[in-house]
Amino acid sequence: MLEVKNLTKRYGRDTVLYPVSFSVSPGSVLGLVGPNGAGKTTTLSCLAGLIRPDGGTATWQGRPILSQPGVVSLLPESPEVYSLLTVYEHLELTARLFQLDASWREEAERILDTMDLSPHRGKLGATLSKGLRQRVLMACTAIRHAPLLFVDEPMIGLDPAGQREVKNMLAAFREQGAAVVLSSHQLDIIEELADEVLILAKGRVMAHGSIAALKEQSGTDTALEEWFFHYTDSSK
Ligand SMILES: Nc1ncnc2c1ncn2[C@@H]1O[C@H](COP(=O)(O)OP(=O)(O)OP(=O)(O)O)[C@@H](O)[C@H]1O
Ligand SMILES: [Mg+2]
Repeated sequence: MLEVKNLTKRYGRDTVLYPVSFSVSPGSVLGLVGPNGAGKTTTLSCLAGLIRPDGGTATWQGRPILSQPGVVSLLPESPEVYSLLTVYEHLELTARLFQLDASWREEAERILDTMDLSPHRGKLGATLSKGLRQRVLMACTAIRHAPLLFVDEPMIGLDPAGQREVKNMLAAFREQGAAVVLSSHQLDIIEELADEVLILAKGRVMAHGSIAALKEQSGTDTALEEWFFHYTDSSK
């Protein structure tokens, strides 16, 4: 289980995360939603060790996540790949970095096939479209079997087919037992994929729970947007 307790972050005098706490079980997805500037990327960046929080703890199976190499995989908002490595070499680099055993090559073939990356295996990173870059990073996550996956706005800039692919891949990671934190502005996708939702606004947790529970608390049951606005409008 991922357990995040009282995560806080300040930039100078500005507090951008007030104590934020949540937990995510293996095989489930937490949807992180909130208006621009709410603190979603900051939360994921703190958890993945890209920036240092001012307070709080984050543990995976009871131990600090950052003390456990290989546990976390972060898919950042802009999927950066290595310009001069091919698609296949990205998998090879991942296998070497994480010291995977020799069976990674077979696994790589399976992943390239299922992610429809085989026709692109020899292409250089610099030549890949955004959707393909996203897929390469997902493939690198899949080959490592990272149990904890942080995904920041994976749908932005993808065409409908690309969005559907990302959705399927996230569902597959969940089925394989990963704990996933998914930040997205696309409430339909959140509703489809997330077991629980955490609504942030201006660094504060406005609501947290299953979608059914949130709808019930907000007294709205129809449009998905309604409960989002119900919880975020009050932060203005
Ligand atoms: N390096 C930084 N220095 C100062 N303030 C920052 C820095 N990075 C982020 N912030 C501020 O922290 C707050 C939260 O930003 P964050 O990027 O986490 O929001 P977000 O929820 O991911 O928004 P979006 O939906 O636009 O991606 C914002 O007010 C932002 O201006
Ligand atoms: Mg963001």
